Amino acid sequence: MTDVVAPVAVVGAPEAPQVVTDVVGRPLPTFAVPPPLASHGPARIIAMCNQKGGVGKTTSTINLGAALAEYGRRVLLVDFDPQGAASVGIGVNPHELDLTIYNLIMERGIRIEDVLIPSGIDNLDVLPANIDLSAAEVQLVGEVARESVLARALRPVLDDYDVVLIDCQPSLGLLTVNALTAAHGVLIPLECEFFALRGVALLVETIEKVRDRLNPALEIDGILPTMYDSRTLHSREVVARVHEAFGDTLLHSVIGRTVKFPDASVAAEPITAYAPGHPGAAAYRQLARELVARGDAA
Ligand SMILES: Nc1ncnc2c1ncn2[C@@H]1O[C@H](COP(=O)(O)OP(=O)(O)OP(=O)(O)O)[C@@H](O)[C@H]1O
Ligand SMILES: [Mg+2]
Repeated sequence: MTDVVAPVAVVGAPEAPQVVTDVVGRPLPTFAVPPPLASHGPARIIAMCNQKGGVGKTTSTINLGAALAEYGRRVLLVDFDPQGAASVGIGVNPHELDLTIYNLIMERGIRIEDVLIPSGIDNLDVLPANIDLSAAEVQLVGEVARESVLARALRPVLDDYDVVLIDCQPSLGLLTVNALTAAHGVLIPLECEFFALRGVALLVETIEKVRDRLNPALEIDGILPTMYDSRTLHSREVVARVHEAFGDTLLHSVIGRTVKFPDASVAAEPITAYAPGHPGAAAYRQLARELVARGDAA
């Protein structure tokens, strides 16, 4: 894989006043470092969602979470994918655990405090998942209020966190509907590839259905371009198309394509810990600051 980092900013011609723009040419605001919080909670819940596989949902959940935690935000990562990639990526081996999110949502009498695990990174906790969760999709079908089991499970700890990030599985099934029902906002990671936009309309339709029927306050917080390669016309075209179709739902922050992300996953660390000075870490810190500036995170 090539190691390319997206320019988050393009500087204008020297004779013109220096205007810093984002990758689609919009003026790029300076997102200030968020001031420390005097107290914590209640958390805003953000679902990281795209039914397309391998677009950077888990990478973005881990690294956005770690960047917010660096800024002193108390963050809970909810692994809501039976693959358990978010758990593994933060250094938890979910296959050795007695209790995971599966037990929390499917069994009575399990306390969320008994399932939560500190990640080893300050301010960052994980609600782990493993393959057991795949059974929940089927078992939930017969449950009363089957779409809101995750919302109910998270409620007891919302005052302890500033942000809860839910790493969704690549599907629009009942687990994802649960994530959307629990969430205040949805962040859509979108790989800068030609077919990336296919499926986004269906995702938006699903979000609108959940808003109409289950969660009237649900918002789309933004579309986050991932695996952006500034050397290819192709990446620029994909982002331009997203801007045309979705306007300012397209975030200013863009995540470049770099092998440092898979490398950090192998090391089971966020990039902010694995390579703190790398532009990939800077990109997720910028995303964290942008979300705080937009009011999507505390
Ligand atoms: N910006 C990036 N540059 C290069 N590689 C990346 C980037 N973001 C993610 N990756 C890699 O791409 C692969 C897929 O990423 P990730 O697991 O985050 O996607 P996902 O949407 O969660 O996938 P799934 O749908 O299977 O859950 C991983 O190997 C990851 O390390
Ligand atoms: Mg994933």
